Amino acid sequence: MSESQASWVYSDLVKEHFLSPRNFLMGDEANFPHDTSGTVGNPICGDQMTMYLQIKDNKIVDVRWKTYGCASAIASTSALSELVKGRSLDEALQIGPAEITEFLGGLPKHKFHCSVLGHEALAAAVKAYRAK
Ligand code: FES
Repeated sequence: MSESQASWVYSDLVKEHFLSPRNFLMGDEANFPHDTSGTVGNPICGDQMTMYLQIKDNKIVDVRWKTYGCASAIASTSALSELVKGRSLDEALQIGPAEITEFLGGLPKHKFHCSVLGHEALAAAVKAYRAK
């Protein structure tokens, strides 16, 4: 496989998280009582992401999210939603696109911007929570 072909290939883990996204919100947010939420848009593609958090004692106890973003955004946010559970708010904010991408075994370079969506939605949710 040439290098340019390889740059289009998703890892098995990306495909697995895309096809079976973790913590995806089924139905509307009334199905998931939450303490805060954050919505962001990706200026590069116009896709959108909302993340909902349940917080107790400054820790994320559970999370749901929804998006109409692409496969990379779905896989990245699925991974992020697993990584942040049980973490303090500050710890969760430290988990950025680089760590998410590494967890997933890489993303095609031109899809890296998609991994930012979940991270930014999480940051918006935490900011809204702290502003209460
Ligand atoms: S192309 Fe929009 S989030 Fe990936």
